[in-house]
Amino acid sequence: LNVKSFYMGGGTPTTLTADQMDRLLSKLEQNFDFGNLAELTIEAGRPDTIDEEKLRVLRAHNTTRVSINPQTMEDNVLAAIGRRHTADDIRRAMEQVRAAGFPHVNMDLIAGLPEDRVELVVGDICDADLLDRIVPGHDAIVHYAAESHNDNSIADPEPFLRTNVEGTFRLLEAVRKYGIRYHHVSTDEVYGDLALDDPAKFTEHTPYHPSSPYSSTKAASDMLVRAWTRTYGIHATISNCSNNYGPFQHVEKFIPRQITNILDGQRPKLYGKGLNVRDWIHTEDHSSGVWTILTKGRVGETYLIGADGERNNITVLRMILKMMGQAEDAFDWVKDRPGHDRRYAIDSTRLRTELGWTPRHTDFESGLAQTIEWYTENRAWWEPAKAATEERYKRQGQ
Ligand code: DAU
Repeated sequence: LNVKSFYMGGGTPTTLTADQMDRLLSKLEQNFDFGNLAELTIEAGRPDTIDEEKLRVLRAHNTTRVSINPQTMEDNVLAAIGRRHTADDIRRAMEQVRAAGFPHVNMDLIAGLPEDRVELVVGDICDADLLDRIVPGHDAIVHYAAESHNDNSIADPEPFLRTNVEGTFRLLEAVRKYGIRYHHVSTDEVYGDLALDDPAKFTEHTPYHPSSPYSSTKAASDMLVRAWTRTYGIHATISNCSNNYGPFQHVEKFIPRQITNILDGQRPKLYGKGLNVRDWIHTEDHSSGVWTILTKGRVGETYLIGADGERNNITVLRMILKMMGQAEDAFDWVKDRPGHDRRYAIDSTRLRTELGWTPRHTDFESGLAQTIEWYTENRAWWEPAKAATEERYKRQGQ
């Protein structure tokens, strides 16, 4: 077998050592019959994107591409390549990955929380057996576990269907079985978008009209929650929140992407004409909204969470540039997102008047300054994900 090349990201050959390459090949050869395959291209990707059927078709063309995730290139994970992953495979692999200190299973996220009250379980949301083990005995489940990034959903919608739709279904079945209070964290994007010059805002009565693979799977999950509430009488509430910002946000999102680009000496990237409007809310206010609904909300109801933070993207980017000592035009215009929603705006009257919630971070400028400070001081948290994220964007022309 002649291994032609090993690609990571958009075509840059990696510096895999000979030993790593040998290990990789021997694992692959244990799992596949490569027959008279003449050449093999291995590229970065999700570890479960290959199966025998795909290989059979590719083999017929005398070449194949194998996708692996370079971040999880440990022996144990490689062993799982080549078969369809079972939930057990994923759980074992994740546990070992976590034990090996890999950054995307980030223990820092729970550091400082009371140890006797917090247990981190790394697992697959679609794993019904795992849910059967960990769900009973809890007071409530707050379901934040979604695939959440629009651009990722446009490049590859399948994980969104699985995590957001099937994952919600599994959780709903678990809360139904064990009689547990459930709160469903959703998004304002289920309502579609508003025109830039429209004074209207989304309310709990706005019809669903999602635009992207991501928002359509979130809309589908909301519908499941409503159906399970009405048909099976589960005790559920739903919240639909606007765009979050603050610490610990993945560098794929707009605000952290631009801040970390500047910190990395790269230019920020703006889609389209930069006129799309997002309604920004600090992540702590989102959390306090969820807590308020969980503890005081009426079962069966939906509440919108928003902090009146409408701004267009170019305004936000210029604020970041200025705060970070850059010229206001020191950014690149890049390809627009297909189907790009124009504007989101939340009317959170119900949450404020019925449940008495108010946001604490009402000064966007100071919230943004604190966010910039956090990313400046916490490079170790975001750096491991940065290169791969930018490589993905580059491939998409963004
Ligand atoms: O509205 C709530 C939603 O907000 C959440 O449900 C989603 O999970 C969350 O990702 C966010 O969705 P957006 O698509 O609005 O967020 P994003 O950070 O991807 O983009 C914000 C705006 O900035 C959007 O108009 C696209 C634009 N953008 C984004 C990136 C990453 C750029 O101009 N340049 C960029 O590099």
